Amino acid sequence: MSFLIAYASLSGNTKEVADLIAETLIAEGMEVTTYRIGGGVMPTLHQFDAMIIGSFTWGKGETPDEVKNFVADIGYKPDSVYVFGTGDTQFGGDILFCHAAVKLARFYGSTYDPLRIEQSPRGKQQKIVIEWSKGVLKHWKHLHE
Ligand SMILES: Cc1cc2nc3c(=O)[nH]c(=O)nc-3n(C[C@H](O)[C@H](O)[C@H](O)COP(=O)(O)O)c2cc1C
Repeated sequence: MSFLIAYASLSGNTKEVADLIAETLIAEGMEVTTYRIGGGVMPTLHQFDAMIIGSFTWGKGETPDEVKNFVADIGYKPDSVYVFGTGDTQFGGDILFCHAAVKLARFYGSTYDPLRIEQSPRGKQQKIVIEWSKGVLKHWKHLHE
C-alpha cells in the first residue's frame, strides 16, 4: 500500500511530524513518498492509495495560501485523505488551534480525526504521532477489506 504525505512547513514543526509519520508507516511495511508543498514537481495523486496532508495554521486560524493552491491544483477530492497539523494554542485557544488541519479534514470529508500537534512533536507528543499513524493504517485497511 502506498501513501503520499504532502505537507507545508515554514519553521519545521510540520515537517518533523511528516517525517515521523513517514518513519512509522515505513516501519509498518508501507511505501511512502513525502512532498513538501510548494517545492519541486507536484506528485500525481492517483498513483497513491491514500494521501496524508499536513499544514501549519496561519493568521487567525487560516490555511496557508500554498496549501489552498495545492488543494486547488489537485482539482478533485480523493477518497482516502488523512489530515494532520501543527499549531500553537497561544494564537486563539482550542477554537483556532490547528484550525487549518480541522478545516482540511472537513473539506475532504475525512472520517478519521485530524492529528493536532502543539509546535514540535519531539518529546511526549511523539507517541501521539506514532499512534495516530498506526491508526491511519488500521482505518484504511478496515475500509478496504
Ligand atoms: C503569525 C502567526 C499566526 C499563527 N496563527 C495560529 C493559529 O491561528 N492557530 C494555531 O494553532 N497556530 C497558529 N500559529 C502557530 C503555528 O501554526 C505553529 O507555530 C506551527 O507549528 C508552525 O509550523 P511550521 O514549523 O511547520 O511552520 C501561528 C503562528 C504565527 C507565526
